[in-house]
Amino acid sequence: MPQSEFNNWLSSNFDKEDWGLELGGIGGHLEVLGIGGTAVSLGDGRTIQQKIKDMELDIHVRSGNLLLGECWRELENEKFKRQRGPKIIISYPVGGWNLIPLHQVFYEKLFLNAFNILESGGMLFTTTGSYFKVHKYSGWDEWDRYFDLMARKYDFSYRVTRKSELGSRALMILKN
Ligand SMILES: C[S@@+](CC[C@H](N)C(=O)[O-])C[C@H]1O[C@@H](n2cnc3c(N)ncnc32)[C@H](O)[C@@H]1O
Repeated sequence: MPQSEFNNWLSSNFDKEDWGLELGGIGGHLEVLGIGGTAVSLGDGRTIQQKIKDMELDIHVRSGNLLLGECWRELENEKFKRQRGPKIIISYPVGGWNLIPLHQVFYEKLFLNAFNILESGGMLFTTTGSYFKVHKYSGWDEWDRYFDLMARKYDFSYRVTRKSELGSRALMILKN
């Protein structure tokens, strides 16, 4: 999604008390968007200089494994302390969640964990891809039907912002 689209969305939806959540990263996307919040990554390999810069930008990095319940409980605690869920979630480990070599159930759980913690009116930007397509669905038509069902069930709207030949899609999901 072009940077300007994010910026337009943020300028009309993101208040100063709001925070962002970056999943599978060390805050680079929050920094580019110019918003404070939390990033979750398996480890924190930032330089001292970057840590100082992030403190000024109000960006915090948590070491955690998104495939474990404990990590999501900590994020739920953070939501409780901040008295609101993240207004924007950027979930963009390179290659997207499709690279996680796990069963479909884990993939969907990851999506739902992220969606559940998101504040109403918030945006989840993520990628999905060939794993999703090849292992569960016979093609994109079926994937579309599945996602339409999910959208109705969980009350969100979504837009596919990018499709690649290799089977990856970028999605902008808006929680009602
Ligand atoms: C290649 S980096 C991508 C960094 C950044 N998101 C970007 O778009 O450039 C992959 C990141 O995903 C994180 N990651 C991979 N599996 C993860 C997991 N199970 N839980 C939390 N973070 C994970 C890694 O720790 C790393 O920070």
